Amino acid sequence: IQGASTDGVLSGKRVVITAGPTREPIDPVRYITNHSSGKMGYALAAAARDAGAKVVLISGPVTIPSPEGVDVQDVTTAQDMLEAASAAVDEGCDLFIASAAVADYRPQTCAGDKIKKSSEEMALALVRNPDTLATIADRKDAPFTVGFAAETTDVAKYATDKMQRKKLRMIVANDVSVPGLGFNSDNNAVTVFWPGGQRSIGPTSKQQVAGSLIELISEHLKDSP
Ligand code: CTP
Ligand code: CA
Repeated sequence: IQGASTDGVLSGKRVVITAGPTREPIDPVRYITNHSSGKMGYALAAAARDAGAKVVLISGPVTIPSPEGVDVQDVTTAQDMLEAASAAVDEGCDLFIASAAVADYRPQTCAGDKIKKSSEEMALALVRNPDTLATIADRKDAPFTVGFAAETTDVAKYATDKMQRKKLRMIVANDVSVPGLGFNSDNNAVTVFWPGGQRSIGPTSKQQVAGSLIELISEHLKDSP
């Protein structure tokens, strides 16, 4: 059944998706990162492709195979991700979906040599990373922009706040406190919010969630000015 309902709904559309974690170097052998397998974003890329879209997938470091028929662009840091996403949107983009788990902060400097241990305590100075999703949504020529929100409490409130703050058309909220769902799992349950409505999807496989998300997003994209 899945696939039939989204057949061609994105035909001729250009879709850019971010996925996976980012990796922020501390020194040549260490980095900070987030939990993220990339599975949800990769499943979305495949679902958008199946719906007829031309898909660019901007991916942080993951260990899952690239979806066929998708232009996968590998990036490492949050700064790389912003650059690659901006360049991809410059090429033309109808729909932008940010599913990446971006590191909010990076080490202020990356040490040239491996940091040796010395005292019992050490502090690492961190600086804010750029927000790819907010930057794309704020463009004059912004595509229809969809974000994710991974929350552990007050999911609806934080997610809808994020949607407004980042000027998103829709936001996909993930309760990452539920064991066995989200992050590294093959399954997910999400609630999608848009101004004036919401819909829950799952718990089910990330492939099924992705298909339903593409279907729902396409309906809103079709009706958007
Ligand atoms: N995002 C992004 N670039 C960042 C941070 C987040 O593109 N530097 C995107 C994520 O891909 C996701 C959305 O913004 O689609 C929300 O990410 P989230 O981490 O939940 O929100 P933040 O705005 O970073 O807020 P916080 O982590 O403080 O809850
Ligand atoms: Ca964040």
